[in-house]
Amino acid sequence: MPDSRPRNDNFLRALLKKPVERTPIWLMRQAGRYLPEYCATRQRAGDFLSLCKSPDLACEVTLQPLARYDLDAAILFSDILTVPDAMGLGLYFETGEGPRFQRPLREESAINRLLAPDPRERLGYVLDAVRTIRKALDNAVPLIGFSGSPYTLACYMVEGGGSRDFRHIKTMLYARPDLLHRILDVTTEAVIAYLNAQIECGAQAVMIFDTWGGSLADAAYAEFSLAKLQNIVAGLHKTWEGEKIPSIIFTKGGGLWLEKIAASGCDGVGLDWNVNIGDARRRVGDKVALQGNLDPNVLFAPPETIKAEAIKVLTAFGVSGPGSTGHVFNLGHGISQFTPPEHVEALVETVHNFRF
Ligand code: CP3
Repeated sequence: MPDSRPRNDNFLRALLKKPVERTPIWLMRQAGRYLPEYCATRQRAGDFLSLCKSPDLACEVTLQPLARYDLDAAILFSDILTVPDAMGLGLYFETGEGPRFQRPLREESAINRLLAPDPRERLGYVLDAVRTIRKALDNAVPLIGFSGSPYTLACYMVEGGGSRDFRHIKTMLYARPDLLHRILDVTTEAVIAYLNAQIECGAQAVMIFDTWGGSLADAAYAEFSLAKLQNIVAGLHKTWEGEKIPSIIFTKGGGLWLEKIAASGCDGVGLDWNVNIGDARRRVGDKVALQGNLDPNVLFAPPETIKAEAIKVLTAFGVSGPGSTGHVFNLGHGISQFTPPEHVEALVETVHNFRF
């Protein structure tokens, strides 16, 4: 078996709670519109979806933030909505309006016909991107694969796009929970197959984005989001080609349910900026690693402020320097398109140079 361990494996080690040389850092949406080189490649692709569907261009943009900054992981360039697109809902992006579906899921008959797609047949372009990126990375840093959570994907599938009040999906949740469970169970099956295919093609860790789980009432979160996340984690490959494949669950707004998320079987829990990462660590002990949780808006402030705010997060977590572990530094949500690229440099340097 070829040795495929990355030369810099601090990210994987932190997730598995093994000693690290320094706190690893990567940023959600690290390849995005705040980088002029990303905008140039996206223009060459024509639009965002064409960029996702071209393995070579998706690889090119995945590597762009790593060329600029000393990041400890790469994340596959794609989108969570490729899965419902592969289920036949017809994804498109309206300029300035975000994602939309041509055929939102509202009718019982359409919900009954919904099937989990075979990722090798319907999402081959993502799997090709994973293989291409792994080759190009040449084992420098690990590659993270990802998916949306069933509930977050269902929000877009039922609403037909982004939403402020989630009126349609919440009506279904309370009036026809059987229909929502059917959507979520098919999507759970799709996500398991999709993430396992990414792992088989070279993803070395996987992250599940539950962006809208935090919009749910307490009992509804347990039933309609967390239960499905647990099923996914149980269905994932735990090792591949002799290497452990850690999984991360990120429920935005999920700070209230931290202990429950940590008990789901995942290796790492992503935190938004609402929680104090030190409190979070005391609540979960060493059951899981924690990823986060700087407010992305800190990156609009001058570098000295960025440095001070990053140190607050590092200090709150509580361990740093050789031997320490369990913290993957990240933002509490995706980086804004208005972030000055030089400010990211200040953040990465601060995290890497930090010692108590
Ligand atoms: O983190 C990364 O660098 C990997 C790539 C990635 C993208 N989207 C690229 C992207 C990941 C992991 C996502 C996840 C995603 N996509 C989520 C979950 C995480 C989150 O941010 O909450 C969600 C809800 C989506 C759906 C989605 N895709 C929305 C709402 C939008 C529009 C947002 C906007 O700012 O216009 C997208 C488009 C999108 N996905 C962009 C990028 C870089 C911007 C597209 C562009 O170039 O115009």
